[in-house]
This record gives sequence, C-alpha cells and structure tokens, in this order.
Amino acid sequence: MTIQSDLDRQARDILRGNDRGGYTVPTAGLYPYQWNWDSAICAFGFATFDVPRAWSELESLLSGQWDNGMVPHILFHKPDPGYFPGPDVWQGIGPIPSSGITQPAVAGSMVRLVYERDPDAGREVATRLYPKLRAWHRWFLDWRLDSRGAVCSTHPWEAGRDNTPEWDRQMERINPEGVGEYTRRDTGHVDPSMRPTKFDYDRYIWLVQLGARLQWDPAALNAASPFRMADPTMTFLLLRAHRDVLWLGEALDLETDGLTDEIAQLEKGADSLWNPVLASFDGRDAFDGSFAGCISNASYLCWWAGVGRPEQAKHYAKVMEQVQYGLPSYQPDGPHFDSRRYWRGPTWAFINMLAGMGLAEAGLTKEAALLRETTRALIAENGFAEYFDPLDGSPAGGKSFSWTAATWLAWASPSAEEA
Ligand code: DGY
Repeated sequence: MTIQSDLDRQARDILRGNDRGGYTVPTAGLYPYQWNWDSAICAFGFATFDVPRAWSELESLLSGQWDNGMVPHILFHKPDPGYFPGPDVWQGIGPIPSSGITQPAVAGSMVRLVYERDPDAGREVATRLYPKLRAWHRWFLDWRLDSRGAVCSTHPWEAGRDNTPEWDRQMERINPEGVGEYTRRDTGHVDPSMRPTKFDYDRYIWLVQLGARLQWDPAALNAASPFRMADPTMTFLLLRAHRDVLWLGEALDLETDGLTDEIAQLEKGADSLWNPVLASFDGRDAFDGSFAGCISNASYLCWWAGVGRPEQAKHYAKVMEQVQYGLPSYQPDGPHFDSRRYWRGPTWAFINMLAGMGLAEAGLTKEAALLRETTRALIAENGFAEYFDPLDGSPAGGKSFSWTAATWLAWASPSAEEA
C-alpha cells in the first residue's frame, strides 16, 4: 500500500470512527456533539467515498434549525457529561437540544460541492435543503449584519475562531461578574497551553448566560450584548455560501428572488472589513468601527468569497515565508502570536482548504499549489490533528480530528488532486 492510500484509509477510518449515526463528532472526548461548520466540512470529506452519507450529514445538521431560521453551532443529540457547557446551560429553543448561537455559514457551499459530485442522485435532497439554507441565510441578513453590511458575531464561539487576538479589546471590556463557579472540561482532554485562558472562558460563559436569560431573542441580544465584532470568517463564508445557494437555485430551477441584491450587499460588507492601515482584511469592532489590527488566516478567505485583493496576496507570500507550515491563524510577527494556542497562531488545515480553493478559482495557481503542498506535508508528517504549530508542524489540540481527515480526502491528498 502506498503512503498516500494508507493516509486516505486512515482519513476514512477517522470519519467513520467519529460517526455517531447520521452525524459526525469533531473528535471523541473534547467535542462529543455535532458542531455546525465541522459537520459541513465532514460532508465534503464523506462525499469522496460515500455520497449518501455526505447527504445525511447535511440533513442532520439542518434538522436542528430553529423556527426563526437559525442553525445552531452545536446540536446536543445525546447527553455527554464530558463537555461543558452542555444543553442545560445553553437552553436552546430549537427542535433538538442545542446551543443558542450559530457558526460561519459554510453548509450552503458544501451542499453545492456534494451535489456536484452526483447531481442526479442529489437533486431531491438538495431541493429539500434549499429552503432551509435560504431561511438560515435570511436569519443572518436580518440579525447579524452591521450598518456597513458585514456579518457580526455575538459570541467568540459564533465566529468559530474562539480566542483570536481580534476579539481581545472587546473581551477586555466585558466584566464577567456573576458568572459563578464552573468546571471546564476541555482542559481535561487537551493541554491547557493549547486552549483559551480562564480570562477568556469566564467571558465565554458569561455571554452564554446572557443569551440564555434573553431566551436567545436576537433583537434583545443585539441590544444587550457587549460583544459584537464584524468578522471576516462570518462575512466571507456567508458571501460565498450565498453565491453557492444562488448557483443551486438556478441548477435546481428554484426561486432565487433577492439573492443577487443580497450578494451585492454582502460584497459591500466584505469591503468594509478592509483595514487600509494594514492593507489587509481584518476584524472590526461593530460598536465603534475600530479595526482589530490583526492579519489572521480568515483574512485569506477573501478569495473563497470572490473578493481577493493583490495587497492580500503580498501578505500571503510573506507569511508563507515566515513559517514552515502556513497559514498561521495570527501573523507570526504580531505581538500576540502564540504558535500552539488555538486561534492565536496555529495552522488549521480546513481553513487552508477553503483559502486554497479560493486562490485557485481566482487564478492564483502558484499560491494555491503551495498551500496544498504545504498542507499535504503537514498532515502526512504530523497526522490528523485539530490544528498544528506553524513553526515546526507539531500536532496540537484534539487527535483523530474529523475536519482534518475530511480536508485530506477532499483536497490535500494526491488522490483529491487527481479526482
Ligand atoms: C469549545 O468548546 O471550545 C468550542 O470551540 C465551542 O464551540
């Protein structure tokens, strides 16, 4: 067996091993439930060897949709005391016990990619999922846009990049008084040096308690929450997914009213994340308009969204020289860089995949090939970790991680390139 086919086999085994019957957990122990964007990326991985299973992943994710259109960031299908905060803390109000926030909208793009694998077989299920995607995106447009059209997160977990330095200033302004005693479970699974600090966690939990008190009413949350960041991940992924939903609507002969105008609105929102001082896309404080001053791996998702800029490509060339295994989640020459602490430096393979696919679509073929080769080497040498130290590639966070396996199968493996 070649090394490549052995790695393909290992990746498939990880997805099958993390399958809990129709949905996939990110990794056993640390994340024992269905996470929104993890699950969507898993579907893309499953589609390389089991298209029906890819569809059941996406169907199960969207089965947790709330009446108001929101698709939660965690679906608590079966109780698991090894995770905190669980359903009793969140008090989600959907059909399945859930968290109360969403996550970046990548599912619409994955529905398109899975559909493209086998359009005939996928027509019925894609038609069923289409109105659910429309309703979810509508919810973003109604409740998460700031005055400039960028998509905001109301919790660091909603943006998916929990502890990026982009949130630091807003997090410092939160006084987590009354958060009470709680026991973290994550640091029982993974070395605390690779996880967010207690300072961050107190604020994460305080924000969850605030949302639960407001029964997750989006208008009340917008009025009361001290956390609201216009976020590159949320904005770029929704913009791209909206383009893909339009593509699906046309392919499936479904009603697409309003989508073109909404795409134009989101393009303006994406533009508003351009920090002219850095000459990079950046997080922006939705209250006072100030930029965070950070170049993150989300900055490079601009190509995935179809709004890449030459100045961003210059940063890309520089950062790929600064580290052995890009893309670092925060610039290595910045004051907050920490090569092993979650979103403050480590490299995430699935972000590389989205950025790399976007680079290729924009015609930046050399840049795209470099990212794919680097990610291929990173996983081949260090395994299917949650994330990696960009300086030496050493694995960090959870092991046998679903979206790293999916990224391997769908994009980083030589077999993906040949497909
Ligand atoms: C966690 O528990 O660390 C997750 O990132 C929340 O989504």
